[in-house]
Amino acid sequence: MDWSVPWAASARGAVGAIARPFIPWVGGKEKLMHYIMQIFPPKIRTYVELFGGSGSILLGMPPKAGRLDIYNDLDADLSNLFLCVRDHCGQLLAELKFLPIHSRAVFEVYKYFLAHREVHQALYEQAIRSELELLDHREYFTEEQAEELRPILLERAQMFDVERAAVFYKSVRGSFSGTVTSFGLRSLPISRYLYLIEQASKRLQEAAIENKSATQLLTELDDEDTLFYGDPPYFQAERSYRVRFQRKLHVRLWQKACSRRGYVVLSYNDCPFIRQLYRDFYQLSFRRSNPLSHKKGSKYGELIITNYDPQPYLHKQLDLFDPGPAEKGELILINAPKYPMRRSA
Ligand SMILES: C[S@@+](CC[C@H](N)C(=O)[O-])C[C@H]1O[C@@H](n2cnc3c(N)ncnc32)[C@H](O)[C@@H]1O
Repeated sequence: MDWSVPWAASARGAVGAIARPFIPWVGGKEKLMHYIMQIFPPKIRTYVELFGGSGSILLGMPPKAGRLDIYNDLDADLSNLFLCVRDHCGQLLAELKFLPIHSRAVFEVYKYFLAHREVHQALYEQAIRSELELLDHREYFTEEQAEELRPILLERAQMFDVERAAVFYKSVRGSFSGTVTSFGLRSLPISRYLYLIEQASKRLQEAAIENKSATQLLTELDDEDTLFYGDPPYFQAERSYRVRFQRKLHVRLWQKACSRRGYVVLSYNDCPFIRQLYRDFYQLSFRRSNPLSHKKGSKYGELIITNYDPQPYLHKQLDLFDPGPAEKGELILINAPKYPMRRSA
């Protein structure tokens, strides 16, 4: 990754500086983040990453005083992982070092655990409740002992989410292509990746983490100074995620995007349906083939869609950095609406 963007270089040394995604995620935008961020308007007060995934854009965006950054994903395990990375980084790292080494059998146990999380959580909480009740029995514990043990047990009550986050993290890292559905047969040197969790934890300290539907947040947080970035499951490739996103949700997302006061930026696969649906938006495409694809000559391109004119930012930023050889492919404007949704850029 080329970090030659001037503000990115200076942000590396700062407190809460930028970080990289700490999990692999289908559709992750790390490779495209400079292209996407270059068109973000600079003066915003709230940044919302609607379909967070591995959070590559938010993590890679330097924090700024006076701007609230919000990570959101409807996948409850993913959102819980981000919460634990932010708030319980030390315990999460300890838990990850403790969990057994990678094997097909262990992977299946994790999958079972995640699929029946409510049952495990209820049992876990019941056990702690029973222990707390025991503290009130003076035949077992003195007053002083009970006072000492109570905060320890209460802290343990919160640890279920950390355990769940660790199991989810290992399932993502250990699965075939990060989808948590099938086991990936390979060695898994978790310790090699743990520094990414620490970096992300620092970056997320001032960020908010949500677990809502993207369309709900588009309504709740709409404001002139809000920037929504959305990277939804791609059209006709929605099954890659644990949370389903049907065709009607693409249409609902478009409807919401049409009536926002805030800035909207969306990433999509370049296909006729999406081009047509967003015909009243600005559309940017990559001049060359899909920069995210590993396959030579891949026909699927990427679209970046905005409800405001991105051209002023595009020109300015393109002068600022020169994409490295792995990131060749300039953005070109392929659609400019006669009546933009949002008048001011
Ligand atoms: C393409 S991925 C986002 C990838 C992300 N930009 C990255 O760089 O890793 C789409 C994400 O949307 C989430 N998702 C699916 N339906 C959603 C919804 N209705 N609201 C919010 N998130 C949703 C999925 O769980 C998945 O993590």
